[in-house]
Amino acid sequence: AVLNVIDRDGNDAVIESDTGYSLMDVLQSNGQDIAAICGGVCSCATCHIYLPADVNAKLPARSGDEQVLVEESEYYREDESRLGCQVEFTEELDGIQVILAPED
Ligand code: FES
Repeated sequence: AVLNVIDRDGNDAVIESDTGYSLMDVLQSNGQDIAAICGGVCSCATCHIYLPADVNAKLPARSGDEQVLVEESEYYREDESRLGCQVEFTEELDGIQVILAPED
């Protein structure tokens, strides 16, 4: 499946990846600058991304931990913010646009 990515410099990229991985894993293993310093266990927030609000609305809601972490960001967007490690890349997400949130 395909992910359209906009990085923090505004460059866009198209990533082709198998599904079943987290968005953080897909971004990181395709050369995007995602620190993911906690390794994907929902405790660092360095995998902060934005998803389109309509896409996000159809996904499982943010967990309590995820909510706390994204809200701590100066760049929190209620309808779009996610932690990339907490969202699985599935066929349903084929072709969506992911934006890397600015670093705090
Ligand atoms: Fe640390 Fe996602 S990689 S919260």
